[in-house]
Amino acid sequence: MATDVNARLRQEDRDPNHDYARNRETPGAPVGARGPGVDYLSIKARLHARLLDEIGERSMYGSGEDAIARAVTEFVSHVLQTENIPLNTEERERLAEELTQETLGVGPLAPLMADPAVTDILVNAPDRIYVERFGRLTLTDVRFRDHEHILRVIERIAARVGRRIDSGAPMVDMRLPDGSRVNATVPPVSIDGPTLSIRRFGRQRLKREDLMRLGMFNKEMMIFLEHAVRARRNVLISGGTGAGKSTALGALAESIPDSERIVTIEDTAELMLDQDHIVRLETRPPNIEGRGVVTARDLVINALRMRPDRIIVGECRGAEALDMLQSMNTGHDGGMTTVHANSPRDALNRLETMVLMAGLELPSRAIREQIVSALHFIVHVRRCDDGVRRIESIAEITGMENGTPLLQDVFKYQQTGRQGRKQIGDFSATGIVPKLVHDLRDRGVEVPLNIFQKHDGADV
Ligand SMILES: Nc1ncnc2c1ncn2[C@@H]1O[C@H](COP(=O)(O)OP(=O)(O)OP(=O)(O)O)[C@@H](O)[C@H]1O
Ligand SMILES: [Mg+2]
Repeated sequence: MATDVNARLRQEDRDPNHDYARNRETPGAPVGARGPGVDYLSIKARLHARLLDEIGERSMYGSGEDAIARAVTEFVSHVLQTENIPLNTEERERLAEELTQETLGVGPLAPLMADPAVTDILVNAPDRIYVERFGRLTLTDVRFRDHEHILRVIERIAARVGRRIDSGAPMVDMRLPDGSRVNATVPPVSIDGPTLSIRRFGRQRLKREDLMRLGMFNKEMMIFLEHAVRARRNVLISGGTGAGKSTALGALAESIPDSERIVTIEDTAELMLDQDHIVRLETRPPNIEGRGVVTARDLVINALRMRPDRIIVGECRGAEALDMLQSMNTGHDGGMTTVHANSPRDALNRLETMVLMAGLELPSRAIREQIVSALHFIVHVRRCDDGVRRIESIAEITGMENGTPLLQDVFKYQQTGRQGRKQIGDFSATGIVPKLVHDLRDRGVEVPLNIFQKHDGADV
């Protein structure tokens, strides 16, 4: 099976836009006298959301592509016949076709995409499709026919965003129209056949208050982080894959005042911020000829020329670490980023390695000094073994001693027991009052000191 896929991937002359070219949204769809909110695109977006609800409600898991195709066609013709939709015949036909294509664009995954509780969809093989709901991974009974079928879906998604995947470019990151992030791999890198990993953007984004309810942090930590962000502290969020780093970053960014101009830099734009004044920049991989690459480093340098009040780097992975730290050290405060790391200490080590990737021959001590003077706090998140994502610690970077950065925990999560699968534990202040509080007091801002009081007893 994988050999068929290999053979197909070697056909270099396929037109990646082939079957999607017709389905691109045509800009300037007539709005005419309909007024705002009733133009073609908003009607389509509304119907698309309803359609997904419909599929979700009928819980068509594992019903196969054909059954879903029928359901989509029925829904669209029903809506067009019975509801008074202000579209002309041509637009109605286009709408029916586009809705069908977009819903079926993900093939048998459509019902999973329609389930608002699903946060991740992971396709390892035609019959190994996992989803994550409420922090737990489960195998589904959704099936692809074969490897070729998975590949077709990947190609459809890629073509729509003008990307291409084949043995020469066997990994690709993309975004679906709803904002979900997709990674696809094909042989030879994924040796057993094509894979797909979809990080869904639940139609409702997890906000700070939701995260607190879900047990990610407590009220005191939230108050503290809000002060740190407002006071323009530079914050690094660390954690493992899928630990909740980007979600925590979004939650922190909620505290940025509306008056500030934010520039975000991401490999695949996924941050959803509510502020008005936002410029979103996205890196670009090289094209088929290997040209046109735009790195995160290019974007950080460019962002500095855009009069930013804040630069948010979605995930720091390489040489951009140097430019980001330098900008933080030259007055561009209030920066935030995430780093893939197993602990706050590991995060610092990784940053050091990333700075080295910039190719300057800096001694390690100098790099550490730069890190220590640039960053103020490290927020470490973990997906615990009960599926709950928690902020495990919030540490202040207080200086250097014998060439080693000093970290001091201000808040900490501690597991105290277990109730079945669930962890019993407690978020607590450590009793340390961070330097930030004194700095803020000098500026006339009072941080309530009681949030730093150490307390015993579980409240989680
Ligand atoms: N506190 C939480 N409770 C429940 N679900 C959460 C929580 N935080 C994040 N999630 C969900 O977990 C998934 C992973 O979160 P997120 O993308 O923030 O992780 P990440 O560490 O940035 O992952 P990656 O390493 O892939 O970049 C998302 O679907 C998100 O909605
Ligand atoms: Mg992330």
